[in-house]
Amino acid sequence: MAIPYNKRSHRCGELRGCDIDKQVLLAGWVNAARDHGGVVFVDIRDHTGVTQLRFNPAPTGGAHETAQRLHNEDVIAVTGRVLSRGEWVNPKMPTGEIEVEVDQIEVLSECAPLPFQLNDEFETSEETRLRYRYIDLRRPEMQEVLRLRHRVARAIREYFHENDFIEVETPFLTKSTPEGARDYLVPSRVQPGSFFALPQSPQIFKQLLMIAGYDRYAQIVRCFRDEDLRADRQPEFTQLDLEMAFVQREDVMAMVEGSAKRIFKDALGVEITTPLPRMTEEEAMERFGIDRPDTRFGMELKDVTEFMGEVDFKVFREAIDQGGVVKCLVAKQAESLTRKITDGLTEEIRGIGGAGLPLVKVNKGDNGVTFSTGVAKFLQPICAKLCEQVGADPGDVIFFMTGTFADVSKYLHYLRTRLATILDVIPKDRWDLLWVIDFPLVVWDEEEQRWFSTHHPFTAPLDEDIPLLDTDPGKVRDKAYDLVLNGIEIAGGSIRIHRQDVQRKIFSLLGIGPEEAKEKFEFLLEALRFGAPPHGGIAYGLDRWVMMLSGSESIRDVIAFPKTQRAVCPLTGAPGPVSQAQLDELYLSLKALPGS
Ligand code: AMO
Repeated sequence: MAIPYNKRSHRCGELRGCDIDKQVLLAGWVNAARDHGGVVFVDIRDHTGVTQLRFNPAPTGGAHETAQRLHNEDVIAVTGRVLSRGEWVNPKMPTGEIEVEVDQIEVLSECAPLPFQLNDEFETSEETRLRYRYIDLRRPEMQEVLRLRHRVARAIREYFHENDFIEVETPFLTKSTPEGARDYLVPSRVQPGSFFALPQSPQIFKQLLMIAGYDRYAQIVRCFRDEDLRADRQPEFTQLDLEMAFVQREDVMAMVEGSAKRIFKDALGVEITTPLPRMTEEEAMERFGIDRPDTRFGMELKDVTEFMGEVDFKVFREAIDQGGVVKCLVAKQAESLTRKITDGLTEEIRGIGGAGLPLVKVNKGDNGVTFSTGVAKFLQPICAKLCEQVGADPGDVIFFMTGTFADVSKYLHYLRTRLATILDVIPKDRWDLLWVIDFPLVVWDEEEQRWFSTHHPFTAPLDEDIPLLDTDPGKVRDKAYDLVLNGIEIAGGSIRIHRQDVQRKIFSLLGIGPEEAKEKFEFLLEALRFGAPPHGGIAYGLDRWVMMLSGSESIRDVIAFPKTQRAVCPLTGAPGPVSQAQLDELYLSLKALPGS
């Protein structure tokens, strides 16, 4: 007789001691089956958990025989009675007090030999897991992450709805929206030779919505960026994108802080304290060498350039003569840093373009501190003074870096992060949220010999810095704000330029000439002429939020169907070839591929 699986009495993780003696109907996947030479035990699983099923040899109308033939991941429905496990209670399982004595079973769907077992996640390559993602997604860890993602999205939607934001959908088939990456292009069949670009963000449309008088907009939206992929980047990812009219920086930041409080509370039950700390970009670079510092631990960078005039060390002297700096960081009580480890770190620094990693060990001497190893002989004359200045004590190791400010920052940031892991100094369960503000509006690119926006070209300069636009653009700070969580940038936004003349000026500073501006952004420049209110907003990287909140190592672990590091989907095989007929229809022909 067929089991009415649409009438499940409980889910597989729900039954407790209070349900003993109830007649139940469960449906789910075979998690494991054990034949104890007579009684067969089968664990049945769904998204709520696992229940132990007991199949007695007789008299169960064939159920026992069916149970003996089950494979992992077969889909079954069963009816039976809830029994106490008596002395076999399993306190580790929420349903561990009970088991279900099955009287009837139906196999709804048989599972073919599995490409990997669900509990084999460490032995299974990511490629295989993504190829069979629907099996991988059955794992309880993945179920939990996607449900956490849902709670985060829901908290966001509720919060912004309560604060009078409306959700408006913006186009996917659109024009290039510059956020610093390459565009994904879509050829138009109707306009042969023309292409849509998938949006890198809804930036321009949300600004147009402010001009259109919608006052507060928020949208959970997919964005597309063709850029080099890393553990925290995907070619398509999700933003919570928002914009507000008639606001200053403080208003947007306060709104975001309220939402962060809500997300942490609803998703994790964690209370965070607001207002959140702030740091200027200049201070972040000076102290941490990066504009998104992880403030959960110390090991801050110290500038010791001024001391180096007193020592006879050519490497430092030459770098300083060329306008460079000498900075250092102190690894506290770092006896565990063996020669092998420091040599390895030196190699890693070389691997990312650095020259070397001068270091000294601090020891207790007869008359105070002394240096040993590395560049000790050069720096010994300033040992006491240097240690006092940088807060170094016996047992510490001081690492130095010299060169341009940008290079020194890059390498010491890398080193600080690596040392924190090696020395295990990062506190667990700590959420360090930090605003970074006052970025430079533009940065000079030596290679291309032109200015680039630090954020995007629509970011407003600080009012007091506007006169510098003509004289010293590199000194102009912007009205942007990035939100950083434990060293990862989880949101970024700004107050926008709402005057057409200022926007034109910024375009021209960025080398976007009047022709290019007209072709690319005419619609925005035109809209700015028709009554644009002052406005500003921000976008959260939703995937990054979930990655951080779930403690996942990679953004791919929090996306149901992600792309690999090579921007492909092993499940569907996308991207793939298209037929000649499709190409013909689009008036496209392919060039010979490299190597073909
Ligand atoms: P931005 O480019 O800083 O700003 O993006 C906002 C946030 O989106 C996340 N993010 C990404 N997440 C995953 N994969 C990627 N490839 C990726 N790129 C960005 C980050 C980032 O902080 N229009 C502006 C926002 C604004 O000014 O309002 C924008 O898109 O967490």
